[in-house]
Amino acid sequence: MSAESEKEAAARAAAALVRDGMTVGLGTGSTVKHFVIALAERGLRNLRCVATSPATEEQARGLGLPVEEFDRLERLDIAVDGADQIAPDGWIVKGGGGAHTREKIVAAASNRFVVIADASKVVDALRAPIPLEILPYGATATLAALHPALPRDAPPSPDGGLIADFHGDVSDPDALAARLSAMPGIVDHGLFPPSLTSDVIIARGGEIERRAR
Ligand code: A5P
Repeated sequence: MSAESEKEAAARAAAALVRDGMTVGLGTGSTVKHFVIALAERGLRNLRCVATSPATEEQARGLGLPVEEFDRLERLDIAVDGADQIAPDGWIVKGGGGAHTREKIVAAASNRFVVIADASKVVDALRAPIPLEILPYGATATLAALHPALPRDAPPSPDGGLIADFHGDVSDPDALAARLSAMPGIVDHGLFPPSLTSDVIIARGGEIERRAR
């Protein structure tokens, strides 16, 4: 089974978790594209969705899903998103598309945060790079303090943040996440702690593996 078929299978399994009337957070990326299609195909009439990127918003609206601004909702029932790396202890790296700040806000606001992935995203241990969103003011100093970190050749986030990557030691994600979160100038980073995720759905060949918190 191709990675694309695995992404679709994981996405369909997640779409089945959504019930009519729910508020739904839509992640970003190629796996989420399958989820948005699968969700739209369910034809649920009373969903309220928020999107973590303009690309997802455009796709969802184009398929008839109602997307609203995320300043009108305090909580979400469920959010579904992809991942770049999934470690055995539940740590996840996100932000390959630079959307991790919005994705983490949506994940934290969700009663159930579901991560969907093809089998290639499962790793034995997290590795660099770790995506960063940096405030443009003083970005050179922020990156220098983070050494080794490099700006990514990517457009800024929809919120104006510079996208960069941390290339240093990732062997202690808890300590690294705390360090990155405490650094002035970092808007957010792509390390998602196990406590943020409710379910991980991994498609491997024809099988669906479910890991629940
Ligand atoms: C977006 O910034 C990312 O967090 C994505 O959710 C992550 O990179 C997974 O993307 P794919 O589904 O395209 O692999």
